[in-house]
Amino acid sequence: MSGHDLTQNSVLALLLARQSVGIKHLTEPGPDATQLRAMADAALRAPDHAGLVPFRFVVVQGAARERLALLFAQAARDAGKDDAGAALDAERAQRAPVTVAVLARLDAGHPQVPVHEQWACVGGALTNLLNAAHAMGFAGKMLSGAKVRHPAVQQAFCRPGETLLGWVALGTPAKSPQRGHDKPRAADVLSDWGG
Ligand SMILES: Cc1cc2nc3c(=O)[nH]c(=O)nc-3n(C[C@H](O)[C@H](O)[C@H](O)COP(=O)(O)O)c2cc1C
Repeated sequence: MSGHDLTQNSVLALLLARQSVGIKHLTEPGPDATQLRAMADAALRAPDHAGLVPFRFVVVQGAARERLALLFAQAARDAGKDDAGAALDAERAQRAPVTVAVLARLDAGHPQVPVHEQWACVGGALTNLLNAAHAMGFAGKMLSGAKVRHPAVQQAFCRPGETLLGWVALGTPAKSPQRGHDKPRAADVLSDWGG
């Protein structure tokens, strides 16, 4: 076998160990400015046809979390939730030390790169961002919900033409993540093509 010895490959071990950790299991600290930049740099290594960079990230931290909480509460009430439900959503907005909004900026009329390829890049960027956080000892989870389509929420995050994918909640895992849900086996997604 050429390439690195897989059993000694710490990067691969790290990739295989990442799993999402929900907001109730995230504590301080979250990634600092340098670590967030490293995560953005990792996101920028996603395969990107024609170098369109069809994504950007917006960091919500510190006092800005209170504004996010107000927005989430408004979206919850407009979706028909009662005061308790709105308060719960507001609390969720403030729970993670750092929240990173993920924006897709797609060029639907690009002559060379169809939109599905641009979405593939956005997904790669998100995954690299999560893996970089994991590599630095943080954990998190990508979250969305109907509120991504709420007009006030969209207005708060999106520039014209952008799509709000959701938010990555980030922090330090309160305990070592338990082995999560079982993943499908590699054989389920990997096969030879007979030609
Ligand atoms: C764009 C996007 C939005 C998501 N939104 C939610 C969500 O709102 N709620 C949720 O529980 N999981 C959501 N997920 C899934 C979780 O982020 C996570 O991937 C899933 O729970 C599987 O966990 P794993 O990453 O450990 O495999 C979303 C994933 C993606 C890619």
